[in-house]
Amino acid sequence: MIITRNLKKTFQTKKMAVHSINKVSFEAREGELTVLTGPSGGGKTVVLNMLAGFIKPDYGDIIIYGEDTSGWGWSRWNSFRRRYISYGTQRNIFIPNISVEDNISLPLLMLGHEKSEVMDLVRDLMERLGIEYLYGRKTYTLSGGEQRRVMVARTLINDTPIILLDEPTAELDEDSSKLVIDLINDFISRDKIFIVATHDKNLVNIGDRVIKIDRGYSTIIK
Ligand SMILES: Nc1ncnc2c1ncn2[C@@H]1O[C@H](COP(=O)(O)OP(=O)(O)OP(=O)(O)O)[C@@H](O)[C@H]1O
Ligand SMILES: [Mg+2]
Repeated sequence: MIITRNLKKTFQTKKMAVHSINKVSFEAREGELTVLTGPSGGGKTVVLNMLAGFIKPDYGDIIIYGEDTSGWGWSRWNSFRRRYISYGTQRNIFIPNISVEDNISLPLLMLGHEKSEVMDLVRDLMERLGIEYLYGRKTYTLSGGEQRRVMVARTLINDTPIILLDEPTAELDEDSSKLVIDLINDFISRDKIFIVATHDKNLVNIGDRVIKIDRGYSTIIK
């Protein structure tokens, strides 16, 4: 379980402070899909970055599984993240000189699995996302929507207890985005904390909890 409250993040850009998160408070539970929505620049990505431990709030608490994370240093966050969190960021970040399937399998290879063990899983996810035809390609040759789906596959592959996905259906047509939403739905039914940031109404509609984040303030919609 994650509870965040009164989070504040002020970015110092030269001498000017940018107040991005003012007051955000919500709870995400296992077995549910928690959706962060709201206008562009509202603070969704900053909140996900805080939940992943990449940036620290200036004040406020992030409580995970009942534990207050405010005392965690980078190494504690790194080891927690490795074991529990998978984060598909808004920007597609890949290793350019390896294939699509190698990029997708990377989280499992880093945990020590053999490539031969994980390839069936990679193919299955690629098929379910309609990107099986990308096998063997390099990620820099892919369209924006193809890259998004590779990112989704890589985020889901190691089946972590906490999944964060930022705009998983951005740049996708309706059919492809339905494949992504169906896959997300399948993962929710397993006991996971699943948090997505999205503008996509179809994805918002399947959220068990919906939190609007606008100008750094949260409102519980559902
Ligand atoms: N490192 C940073 N330094 C300064 N300002 C930042 C930084 N990161 C984010 N911001 C600002 O914080 C605000 C919230 O940004 P954020 O990326 O969280 O928005 P978002 O809700 O994810 O928007 P979108 O829907 O466009 O992805 C924006 O005004 C952004 O410019
Ligand atoms: Mg964003």
